[in-house]
Amino acid sequence: MLFYLEMSEKVVIFVLSKDINTLYKHSRREDKYCHQNIMSKNNSNLHKARNEKNDEFYTRREDIERELKNYRPHFEGKVVFCNCDDPFESEFFTYFAINFKFLKLKKLIATCYNGSPISGMELPLWEDENDREARKACMLTMDDLYDANGDGVIDKEDVKRMLLLPGHITRLEGNGSFDSPECLKILKESDIVVTNPPFSQFRKFVATMMKYEKKFLIIGSMNAVTYKEIFPLIKENKLWLGNNSVAKFIQPDGSEKVFGNILWYTNLEHHKRNEKIFLYKKYNEKDYPKYDNFDAINVDKVDDIPCDYDGVMGVPITFLNQYCPDQFDILGITCRRYSPEYIIKEYSKDDYNNANDLNGSACILQNGRPQMVYGRILIRKK
Ligand SMILES: C[S@@+](CC[C@H](N)C(=O)[O-])C[C@H]1O[C@@H](n2cnc3c(N)ncnc32)[C@H](O)[C@@H]1O
Repeated sequence: MLFYLEMSEKVVIFVLSKDINTLYKHSRREDKYCHQNIMSKNNSNLHKARNEKNDEFYTRREDIERELKNYRPHFEGKVVFCNCDDPFESEFFTYFAINFKFLKLKKLIATCYNGSPISGMELPLWEDENDREARKACMLTMDDLYDANGDGVIDKEDVKRMLLLPGHITRLEGNGSFDSPECLKILKESDIVVTNPPFSQFRKFVATMMKYEKKFLIIGSMNAVTYKEIFPLIKENKLWLGNNSVAKFIQPDGSEKVFGNILWYTNLEHHKRNEKIFLYKKYNEKDYPKYDNFDAINVDKVDDIPCDYDGVMGVPITFLNQYCPDQFDILGITCRRYSPEYIIKEYSKDDYNNANDLNGSACILQNGRPQMVYGRILIRKK
């Protein structure tokens, strides 16, 4: 599986070797302790999005429905907050609004960010002309849903009618940022946050959720797994992956943008997390070589995890898609020297020009020379 690695504010050029297990990386900046990941064509879109601080990619309803159906019981009696969502135009808001009764929600709140290009397109939000022009941040709240137009069906039209009744649309004083004082106040009163936050602020967004001890289900890049702020949360089982990936997003002009390795992150329990991986392969030294510099064996595919090995194993990061905490402990990661306790060798520049790169990843000896492998999660069977 291909995935792209974020290295914030760093210029990295990846050169893929013919051997898919070996990737040579040349960094023009200091941070050499990075993963051996592959940047796919699709993921360069994400790279571009982040660099340009262009966060305007909207989630499709079908992707929201596909993921949300795994969490239904969590929502009963809860206040749901979509805090990066143009009220009404966001499919997150629409999903929860239309399913308000079905999910037995207590309240639904959405806030949007100043200047968002699609806010107010479907629902008039502002009375003041200046606010309209500035696309001023505002908040929508819903605490009931009924057949407002009396046509016998409860649908988006009823949501719209209800929202236009007094008291449902509020202009925000601040800029509507998820970490602005106004939005944090709403956050404190909410139970579950569900959104696709701006790609460029994923770290800050998760940190905010953690600080306020909120339950959340959000969309982010697979690469975030390797962020120094995110991996420890995954290791400590405070954050895990959801059920699906999200391949397509809608841009403000209505066109689709395709990304690779975008998926859901959550701290809500779901069924898949309790499903153990069926292990059937037997350990042998040839197929599972020890790393030269990490105290672990290498496993190239999740399906290949041996059933009879009790030591530390380095597995692809895609393992997290199938991680069951009752089956494995996550011990560390081979990237960026995050897990020094498993490092057993340091390469020197005297021996290898690329010693810094080698020291930033797990290496396997090939013809007597260390070859870097992709970033690996270090795990052990329970
Ligand atoms: C990736 S888009 C997703 C939009 C929507 N959640 C969805 O999934 O369709 C991220 C949205 O966050 C908004 N945004 C950017 N910075 C923000 C901030 N600091 N606080 C809240 N929203 C922000 C952007 O305007 C954009 O609409």
